[in-house]
Amino acid sequence: MHKQELNEFLHLYKQEMKQSEQWLENRLHEAAEPSFSLTTEELTYGARVAWRNSNKCIGRLFWNSLTVFDQRHLLNEHEIFEALVKHIDYATNNGKIRPAITLFDPGRVRIWNHQLIRYAGYETAKGIVGDSDSVGFTKVCETLGWQGAHTNYDVLPLVIQVDDREPLYFDLPKESVLEVPIIHPVYDFSGLNMKWYAVPIISSMRFNVAGVDFQAAPFNGWYMGTEIGARNLADTYRYNFLPKVAEIVGLNTTFNASLWKDRALVELNIAVLHSYKNAGVSIVDHHTAAQQFQLFQQQERANSRDVTGNWVWLVPPLSPATAELYHEPIANTIKKPNYFYQNGPY
Ligand code: ARG
Repeated sequence: MHKQELNEFLHLYKQEMKQSEQWLENRLHEAAEPSFSLTTEELTYGARVAWRNSNKCIGRLFWNSLTVFDQRHLLNEHEIFEALVKHIDYATNNGKIRPAITLFDPGRVRIWNHQLIRYAGYETAKGIVGDSDSVGFTKVCETLGWQGAHTNYDVLPLVIQVDDREPLYFDLPKESVLEVPIIHPVYDFSGLNMKWYAVPIISSMRFNVAGVDFQAAPFNGWYMGTEIGARNLADTYRYNFLPKVAEIVGLNTTFNASLWKDRALVELNIAVLHSYKNAGVSIVDHHTAAQQFQLFQQQERANSRDVTGNWVWLVPPLSPATAELYHEPIANTIKKPNYFYQNGPY
């Protein structure tokens, strides 16, 4: 534990959680003990502030509603798996998605997945089947003994490691993985067999608080439509559906200036938002998300805090200049606690 960062965190906690001078003095005193660790309350606040400090996230208005599951005591792979399934079930909530994070022993537990729910990707002679972003991790799973069905949407197993033990893999129960078939309100998209999962749960980042790194700290919010409709299903190096969408919509793909890519993107994004809404699964469109971000900024200013942000990430990939934040500079200063990238375990 870094003393300086621990001190700073306890001071911040005292200030924002309105604790007494006596409380701070006691905690700083206890912090000198070798057995010292943060309480669940402190971690809960820390994880929420880490979300508030996440410069790439446009959805930070809701930072204070994050649910925190403290599972630091679990060191058995099977029990960790159960806790992860519980997180998925709690977050999914039959479609009414709830933001949550689960914290495991910092330093001893590692989740190898990038997200708890994600599709496998396979290199074949005819090109990539599934999600190209998962090709490396899919190979790792196969080396561990896992076998996928080789469809475009095989849900990957959870790969869990404790200490220096061999990692174990676990298939997710089908009933825990909510998925949404992508349909269009006007055009017939059914032949494309597009779908996506309901809840994005990032599991590869470390939660840094008070000088401690929680390497296994999977967290989720709900999707913004463009993440799926303008990236996952649209990027040429991901699912690359724009040419097929253009064909169904009847666009002229023989020249760029027909703007067929732009029109296909809009129809695909309409389909994603329509499908999630239709299935009763929480999702936010990028216009509403950008407005919520403005509200977040006002709220932070009212609390005398500067909002930091990473402009390149915050600006939605669709109709970017319609968002107010497109026109305003924002400082990409890193504050702690926060969520950071870390070296992959494989
Ligand atoms: N962009 C990532 C994906 O498409 C998910 C990142 C987290 N997104 C979120 N809405 N919390 O899977």
